[in-house]
Amino acid sequence: MTGLVETTSLKGGIRQITLNRPDKKNALTEEMYIELETQMKLATESANVRAILLNGKANCFCAGNDIEDFLKNPPKDENSPVFRFLRTLNRVEKPIVAAVNGVAVGIGTTLLLHCDLVYASPSSTFSTPFVNLGCTPEGASSILIPEIMGQRKAAELLMLCRPFNAQKAIELGIITALSNSSDALEEALKACHELVEKPPIAVREAKRILKKNLQEKVEQTIIEEARLFCERLQSDEANEALHAFAERRKPDFSRF
Ligand code: COA
Repeated sequence: MTGLVETTSLKGGIRQITLNRPDKKNALTEEMYIELETQMKLATESANVRAILLNGKANCFCAGNDIEDFLKNPPKDENSPVFRFLRTLNRVEKPIVAAVNGVAVGIGTTLLLHCDLVYASPSSTFSTPFVNLGCTPEGASSILIPEIMGQRKAAELLMLCRPFNAQKAIELGIITALSNSSDALEEALKACHELVEKPPIAVREAKRILKKNLQEKVEQTIIEEARLFCERLQSDEANEALHAFAERRKPDFSRF
C-alpha cells in the first residue's frame, strides 16, 4: 500500500475511496491503478459495503494519468493496470458516487462515465485531452460520450479537446448536478446516505439493468481503445506532446 489511494469506512456502509496525491493534482500512476482496482473489488465483495464514494484530496479530483509514468512506464496492452482498473470499474455491482472538486482531466473525466452519480463543485473543470497528447480516447469514452451527448458534441470533447466548466458538464450530461456549496463532497455524501438506507438488492438490480445493454460493449471498447492507445503512446506525436508537458513548453506538431 502506497497511501496514494486512501480508503475509509463511513457510517451505514459507505466505502470512501480517495485519490491522495495532491502535490501532483492526484495524477494516477500504475501503482495507484492497481490499488484502485483492488479497492473497487474489495468494496464489491465486502458484504457491509452498500455504496462507494470516490473523491480526490485537496480540492482536486484527478489530473489524469501521470505524464512521467506515460514516458517511463507506459501501459503496454489491454492488461496493463490502467485498463484492468477501467474494466473492473465497468463491472462494479454497487452504486458509485463521485465528488469532483477542481480539475478532472483525461481519465479523471472518463472514469466518471462509469460512476452512477457525479456531483461537482461549481468551479470544477473537465477535459479529455487525449488527441492533444498524440493519443486516442480511452475508458470506453468513444462510445459513452457520443451515447450521452451525440456525435457533434462528442467531437468537441474528443477531437477539439476543449476544457469545459461544471455548468457545461451538466448540460452535456457528464455530471448529475452541481453542489450547492464549494465542496462537492457534501452533496455526494448526501446521495450516499440516501442510497445506503434503500433496500440494497433493489439498488444493485436497478444498477444492473441500467448498465445491462452497454456493459459488454463497454468492456470490448475499453480493450479495443487500449490497443490503439498503447500504440499511439509510442508514436512520435505522443513523444513530442509528453516531453513538451514535462519541459513546460508548447508542443510543436508541424513536422508530422
Ligand atoms: N502528470 C504528472 N504530473 C502532473 C500531472 C500529470 N498528469 N498533472 C499535474 N502534474 C503536476 C505538475 O507537473 C506540477 O508538479 P510540480 O509542482 O512538481 O511542477 C503539479 O502537478 C501541479 O500542477 P500545475 O500544472 O502546476 O497545476 P495547475 O493548477 O497550473 O494545472 C492541470 C493543473 C491539471 C490543468 C495541469 O497540471 C495539466 O494540464 N496537467 C496535465 C494533465 C494531462 O494532460 N493529463 C493526462 C491526460 S491523458
